[in-house]
Amino acid sequence: MKINKNLVTSVLIFDSGIGGIPVYLTIKKIFPKINYAYIIDNDSFPYGDKKNSFIVDRIIKCIYKVHKKQKIILAIIACNTASVISLRKLREVFSFPIIGIIPDIKSAVKITKNKIVGLLATKATINSAYMKRFIKNFSSYVIIRNIIVSDIINVVENMFNTTYQSVYKTLSILSPWIEDRTSNPDTIILGCTHLLLIKKEIKNFFGRKINLIDSKSDLLKNVYIYKKSIFSIKKKNTVYYTKMEERIKILIQVFKEIGFEKFEEIFT
Ligand code: DGL
Repeated sequence: MKINKNLVTSVLIFDSGIGGIPVYLTIKKIFPKINYAYIIDNDSFPYGDKKNSFIVDRIIKCIYKVHKKQKIILAIIACNTASVISLRKLREVFSFPIIGIIPDIKSAVKITKNKIVGLLATKATINSAYMKRFIKNFSSYVIIRNIIVSDIINVVENMFNTTYQSVYKTLSILSPWIEDRTSNPDTIILGCTHLLLIKKEIKNFFGRKINLIDSKSDLLKNVYIYKKSIFSIKKKNTVYYTKMEERIKILIQVFKEIGFEKFEEIFT
């Protein structure tokens, strides 16, 4: 790939939607002075019900587009669905370091007291070969239950143009786990970055002591590995979206409040 050497360097955050925001805010606290690019593949949202081949192809196209405009020094796939499905392929295609966020079963297994762990994620994440292997490896230590949370993800994706009531309403999908502590998870993995935006609401919904695992610690450990090579001259943080729609106009305001100044549509 031909890259112009005078390009702006940046750390890339990738998600199908706004789930990358809590990841970006965490990374930004560690590296406040560098340049960020955020890809929101809103045209393909949600990834969770798409085929693996579509998701991989799509992410490669989006990142390729941005890498022609900016020199990416580190790409953070801030989407569990994209990470479990595409990380290996992305590392084959691109030469810059790429890290992702993966449902953190290991931490959940360490914390759970009743040995029942819940996994909240998309259909694509739960059915991925990566997660199935991972779950199998831990199945002799704990019982892992899962709930596909696509409806919650859809509401969260629109949380800036909807009411908080609809966020609470959609949490009723989690009702089967609300009662009876002995046979339900005492530890729940938030296996989708959209859920990090409503961590407090999920905690309140259960109204009992529950451990919520946000899966960020492994990601952060990996970011620290690249600490020395992460530097850039501060320019303008840019959001690249894949389709102009009404919702994007609202999101532009949200992104402005968290330090983004440039907004650009990329066609894939
Ligand atoms: N934030 C993505 C994840 O972590 C959302 C999935 C989707 O687009 O369906 O899985």
